[in-house]
Amino acid sequence: MIKIAPSILSANFADIGGAVARLESWGADWVHFDVMDGNFVPNITFGPAMCAAVRPLTQLPLDVHLMTLDPEKWVHPFRDAGADIITIHVEADRHLHRTLQKIHDAGAKAGVVLNPATPVSSCEHVLADCDLVLIMSVNPGFGGQKFIPEAVEKIARLRKLAAEHNPELLIEVDGGINPETSALCRAAGATVIVAGNAVFTADDPQDMIARIRGDSF
Ligand code: DX5
Ligand code: ZN
Repeated sequence: MIKIAPSILSANFADIGGAVARLESWGADWVHFDVMDGNFVPNITFGPAMCAAVRPLTQLPLDVHLMTLDPEKWVHPFRDAGADIITIHVEADRHLHRTLQKIHDAGAKAGVVLNPATPVSSCEHVLADCDLVLIMSVNPGFGGQKFIPEAVEKIARLRKLAAEHNPELLIEVDGGINPETSALCRAAGATVIVAGNAVFTADDPQDMIARIRGDSF
């Protein structure tokens, strides 16, 4: 089962609540919530207060992608704000096991994120502690960037490693997704597809989500 997680980074920030409220009727599965701190990535977005504000507007799980230094500091604030899934970058955290444990102890699903230049092997020894791994297919910081094709091979490698360490692992991909790049990622083993620009600039977002999911008509 493929899950689609639209990124509200590409929504109109003057109407974030409206965007979140519409996602369910568009057929989305998760809400992808991009948190940027202006240090780990060269952009700033929103924090726990925004997460708490949109939480009552949807039944969908909130998938919080922490693009921050010292992500362990933000686990409790986002969990308290209603995050269901929290992912942390391997490049930003010195003690991955401890932070993953902290996320699980707080009652959320936990995962790690790999930047495009970070090898899949960097998460091998935490795979058993992860519910999901997010493979970045752009350098994080902005929506609307071009898909980096090496991500497809990384997904395939990760799917093989997961067969050994954690067969239930969800593999999420994020950045430059459209129906074509989604098909490549799904064929390689991705099960959760993030899409920002493609969904929020579409004339018919519901149809776009179906096409990214690979539904045939
Ligand atoms: C990038 C973010 C992505 C981004 C995806 O830093 O993590 O979630 O918003 O946007 P598109 O689909 O426009 O590349
Ligand atoms: Zn993201």
